[in-house]
Amino acid sequence: MDKFVIDGPARLEGEVLVSGAKNAALPCLAATLLTAEPVRLTNLPRVADVRTMQKVLGHVGARIDAERETATVAVPEILSADAPYELVKTMRASVLVLGPLLARAGSVRVSLPGGCAIGVRPIDFHLAALRKLGAEVSLQHGYVEAKASRLRGADIVFETVTVTGTENAMLAATLADGTTQLFNAAREPEITDLARLLVSMGARIEGAGTDRIVVEGVESLHGSDHEVVPDRIEAGTYAIAAAATRGDVAVRRCRPEHLRALTTRLTAIGADVQLSGDALRVRAEGALPAQDVATAPYPGFPTDLQAQWTALATGLDGVSTVTETIFENRFHHVAELVRMGAKIRLEGRWAVVEGYRLTGANVMASDLRASAALVIAGLTAEGQTTIERVYHLDRGYSRMEEKLNALGAAVRRVT
Ligand code: EPU
Repeated sequence: MDKFVIDGPARLEGEVLVSGAKNAALPCLAATLLTAEPVRLTNLPRVADVRTMQKVLGHVGARIDAERETATVAVPEILSADAPYELVKTMRASVLVLGPLLARAGSVRVSLPGGCAIGVRPIDFHLAALRKLGAEVSLQHGYVEAKASRLRGADIVFETVTVTGTENAMLAATLADGTTQLFNAAREPEITDLARLLVSMGARIEGAGTDRIVVEGVESLHGSDHEVVPDRIEAGTYAIAAAATRGDVAVRRCRPEHLRALTTRLTAIGADVQLSGDALRVRAEGALPAQDVATAPYPGFPTDLQAQWTALATGLDGVSTVTETIFENRFHHVAELVRMGAKIRLEGRWAVVEGYRLTGANVMASDLRASAALVIAGLTAEGQTTIERVYHLDRGYSRMEEKLNALGAAVRRVT
């Protein structure tokens, strides 16, 4: 298992290019199952989760021609409408094939993902949505089995905002008979990106990006060419790292408008934030005041940046709270930050953080965003930090050590 060895402290300075969004690439790859014609996706991030989704598609019968950030996926026929435990256990987003396989093949069998490092994460809202569309859904031997000769449009009200739940329902509804309305739909830019791809494939979708999405089912979809939206979480991670290291970083090839909740907070702590076109420049120096943050569905502060912000908060002057409202167990980074000298008290969904100088230590990554938080902490800490299990990081960040080193950091991957 690879490790990162970071010599700190570092001051990040320069330009970094953002890759395509992992959480948009995954549903876009799942969407290729809806047509027999080839779909070409560009700006795919080179991360482990994208490779896992390609394995899932390959298992189903996809022919994939992938090179660097581009993949052309053709699924002339569905050979096996299922996602086995071996694949789903490595990436729960594999459940995104439920909707498209059901719509295209009329039946699907997908392993239940089970809990993960950040919470229980059930998929009951996905299943309720598919049932509303007329599917017969049962759970047997750890697998979800769903059947429907033709899905029928329906009104679906999500009890809680769910990103992949909204995506699964939207994917299934594209080929349903009649109109589907999704209420309390997720509004994340990744949903809008998926809708953009589906519309380019011939789907009829309105309202993506709002909490009511209307899908008019069509008989069939066709091939297309689509550029995946830039990764707002990767961009936000570098923006936070710039402020944490009191650096000066231009985060380029991103969509600054997708990061308003973060840029507002960065400005509030006294960082100089400039947005122009596809770039976000963050500069910070000296003592910065503590600032409270609470996660919320988009356009609120992303839960996927909570851990990174917590690392930044350890270097702010005074006491601040970080509140996690989306997942019940997303504070595994806290115990590791404490090993680095952080003063953080956990009270249920709150982390109370008191600014304090960090020192390098041996720490363990527990999930994707927690790993990014430990990297940021390692960059600000005095001395050497070793982060074990960086395979978590590789699931969602493309070449992070190279990008950081180009900004002046000293990060070594030890294999
Ligand atoms: N929930 C349920 N039942 C469901 C679905 C969700 O109770 O059927 C709950 C979840 O347990 C959670 C909340 O609803 O408490 C919201 O979860 P959501 O369904 O929105 O999460 P997700 O779709 O499984 C996606 C991202 C996550 C990101 C969340 C929240 C992908 C592939 N994953 O997960 O990304 O944290 O939305 O924004 O899009 C990451 O990239 O590190 C990551 C975890």
